[in-house]
Amino acid sequence: MSDHFVRRDGALHAEDVAVADIAQRFGTPCYVYSRATLERHYRAFDQALAGVPHQVCYAVKANSNLAVLQVLAKLGSGFDIVSAGELRRVLMAGGDAARVVFSGVGKTAEELRFALEQGVGIFNVESESELRRLDAIARQLHTRAAIALRVNPDVDAKTHPYISTGLKQNKFGVDLVTAERLYLEATHLPGIQISGIASHIGSQLLDVSPYLDALDRVLALVDRLAAKGIEFEHIDVGGGLGVRYRDEQPTEPEDWARAFLPKLAGRNLKVMTEPGRAIAGNAGILVMRVELIKHGETRHFAVVDAAMNDLLRPSLYQAWMDIVPVQDNTAAKPATYDVVGPVCETGDWLGKDRELAITEGDLLAVRTAGAYGFVMASNYNSRGRAAEVMVDGDHAHLVRARETFEDLVRGERVLP
Ligand code: LLP
Repeated sequence: MSDHFVRRDGALHAEDVAVADIAQRFGTPCYVYSRATLERHYRAFDQALAGVPHQVCYAVKANSNLAVLQVLAKLGSGFDIVSAGELRRVLMAGGDAARVVFSGVGKTAEELRFALEQGVGIFNVESESELRRLDAIARQLHTRAAIALRVNPDVDAKTHPYISTGLKQNKFGVDLVTAERLYLEATHLPGIQISGIASHIGSQLLDVSPYLDALDRVLALVDRLAAKGIEFEHIDVGGGLGVRYRDEQPTEPEDWARAFLPKLAGRNLKVMTEPGRAIAGNAGILVMRVELIKHGETRHFAVVDAAMNDLLRPSLYQAWMDIVPVQDNTAAKPATYDVVGPVCETGDWLGKDRELAITEGDLLAVRTAGAYGFVMASNYNSRGRAAEVMVDGDHAHLVRARETFEDLVRGERVLP
């Protein structure tokens, strides 16, 4: 899906705002998001499923900035959350708890209680212990928790091993045999109301075939359970659709829906999905300044003011993310650079072997950094986290102030 970051006369723009102006105004490093892009991507999912009852639950973990959640809440989005903190963000941003799906392998009793009190729509239960814990808490609160079991269909999503979740060696979900037993047991739990069945097999999936394999296995279980009198109202097909970082050809939501919807024909199941990356990924960039250029014996280094603490994906997954100049520099001689941060780790790099025409002081942008960018940032090396800006047409809004030193040490104390 395309985005609203475009070059005009050699200058990168976010919608109608020059990125260089944003850097000037808010400093660097700085994440810049495009509202129109977020909206376009949400609508692509919503329209792809328009022919059936459905609910798109944006995966908050991909980018949980309140303004991002607000933009999506205004469009009627539901939300997939994995912690009480994410739920509080959704509520603060105007999201509807009834349209929230609570996922995650390790929900604590307090989190479950809080979520029930707030009226969370669906709990995607990932273990027998969690099912029993949720039942007990719901009964204490004199309510019933609507659940789906997250089943692990044991299919290979063919993505990076760290972001593949649907194999039996992964910690996520329950296997199909256990799921069958747990559904039968759940019918006897007064605090539990069975609503659906869920699976999520991994992230950055470029192809629909693992989805289709997973769905076949899940639907076979649905049929076995129907024979035993258990009927579902919804099926949650998870998130995971990939985006283009380099030359990948990810499946578009429309084609994804066209591929799997026929399998659900005649089943009367509401379709839920939890896309994160496909909505937020190319709706954001990370803007950084070239602090200095260093010519090593064998390599050229562009040392920038962003680092692995701001954007961990290259270090953690060896992810290739595109790095482009914010403004063409026609005076500079092109060279091949390793783009590295100032953090004291050899693994602190954002891109390797990049052909760039730059001089010190130039601005660079990492493209497709809107998902799993800021949310994975840390304060390593006592670096404050970057500012976040949302562009809406010709306006740039600061949606998170850059962290100050005082923010960093808040809560710390020296000994008396
Ligand atoms: N639902 C569940 C249960 C998930 O675990 C995830 C992502 C999603 C939905 C959203 O998946 P998406 O549509 O964004 O692929 N930090 C990694 C990605 C981790 C994904 C974790 N789970 C990265 O930067 O590549």
